[in-house]
Amino acid sequence: MKAHTLNPKTKTHSFVLDDGVTIAMASPTQPNSFQKDIVHRVPPARTEGWRLNFTVRTIETEGAIRDPSTIENVHRVKITETCSVLVWETLFSREELETLKKELLDTIRGSGVADVTKMWGKTFDNKGRRVLEMAEKPGFKYHYAGKTVTGIEFSPCVQTIVVPKMAEIFGVHASKIWGHLVFYPTSECKLDWHDDGEDGINPHMIASITFLEFPQKGARPFQVRAKADFPSGFGGRKSKTSAAKKGTKRSGATVEDVKDAKREDKKIKL
Ligand SMILES: [Fe+2]
Repeated sequence: MKAHTLNPKTKTHSFVLDDGVTIAMASPTQPNSFQKDIVHRVPPARTEGWRLNFTVRTIETEGAIRDPSTIENVHRVKITETCSVLVWETLFSREELETLKKELLDTIRGSGVADVTKMWGKTFDNKGRRVLEMAEKPGFKYHYAGKTVTGIEFSPCVQTIVVPKMAEIFGVHASKIWGHLVFYPTSECKLDWHDDGEDGINPHMIASITFLEFPQKGARPFQVRAKADFPSGFGGRKSKTSAAKKGTKRSGATVEDVKDAKREDKKIKL
């Protein structure tokens, strides 16, 4: 794999994701959900152009879900005893990716909604981030970070290219696959350390395909770290950042974490 580094001090795994790369976070069974044990973040990137990220999950919470350890032909990075990151550089053909990229861009420009966050009495526009949910049937409702978004039907290329492959990887029926599309207008868009623990969604695996406006001029940085490797546990210290002090559920970052993160940012060469 082109780019995976491990900071031995903070035990932060950094990945550099090129256009068309698929990455997944996984744990073998639902009780061992990776979201209990690891967190991830998207640091700001010093690159050019927009980024598009299509994240796939399953709303199957019972029954025969494939054990991710049985997936072959993938680069696997172990994060904890039970949690891994999987990276596919060629899960889809270049032709499939180009068709998909164009369709997803058109779809989110046409049907995406502004990902506005209301917090502490203020409204944040997240630097113009747009989101769109997709499922087999329209009307699927996704609740996250205090927001509810209603989904549309899978766009044609998602239905024919992405869903069959993801249904196979997840080991579920296509009707149980759900997609979350995010458009980042600039490379400054970032997400701080968080897990994706959400109700009603099987947390054993999340897969994500990255698309870049200028594949030659950029990449998507992505970092993963065990909650246990935060100096006093994720979100468990008194010395909180302003976000944590003000009670944001999803941020457990502390002052030391922010310092670590700034050091990590300097190290990521894209
Ligand atoms: Fe996330």
